[in-house]
Amino acid sequence: MTSVDLQLGARPTEKVQLYKPGAPLTYPDDVAARLAADAAVLVARYPEARSALLPLLHLVQSEDGYITPAGIEFCASTLALTAAEVTAVATFYSMYRRGPTGEYLVGVCTTTLCAVLGGDEILASLCDHLGIEPGGTTADGKVTVEHVECNAACDYAPVVMVNWEFFDDQTPQRARDLVDALRSGSPPAPTRGAPLCGFRETARLLAGFDDERPGAVDASGAGGEPTMAGLRLARGEAGS
Ligand code: FES
Repeated sequence: MTSVDLQLGARPTEKVQLYKPGAPLTYPDDVAARLAADAAVLVARYPEARSALLPLLHLVQSEDGYITPAGIEFCASTLALTAAEVTAVATFYSMYRRGPTGEYLVGVCTTTLCAVLGGDEILASLCDHLGIEPGGTTADGKVTVEHVECNAACDYAPVVMVNWEFFDDQTPQRARDLVDALRSGSPPAPTRGAPLCGFRETARLLAGFDDERPGAVDASGAGGEPTMAGLRLARGEAGS
């Protein structure tokens, strides 16, 4: 029998532990009441309350910008789970942040196809340009850069995600221009999908609340031409 030793802890690119010093341990009464009202909406969508844990983690992330002890305790008490159970789930999924996050989370895909087409160079170039390590945040709190795994946009590789919206066909220079625009307060439109909003607002949308910005939902649109070409090819349609 072969044994495998697994070392658990913070993700390699994150310099903080989940229980970061200074993180809120509890919420003030008014915040707790507001979160409880939102949580009730989310929990009501599921036959079992505990099934709402993933949306609730996004909800508390929208409050704090990352998963804090206060957020974990809120989820646990709302869903009759233990803090350990909530923590186990929160640390399994990389979309839940373990430390303070910038207004824009810039994720550079370094999975196979994006890597072959320059994803690693883009990540290195961005970190060098911003003077931060992968997983770090700029001093102005505007931009956090990290590597991300495949976002199922391989036909647009190499891809950069900003708050989970797509910026396709990137180069090191285009990515540097992108983060400069983000830091200047002029966020560019994603290649596809809804306009950008801040990381906390994005977390609230991911929790399952409607995007009420005019035109935002319509902007999601259909697949782009490379995706549709792949679909036609899969169907064996002529001219694909
Ligand atoms: S490998 Fe980058 S989106 Fe798939």
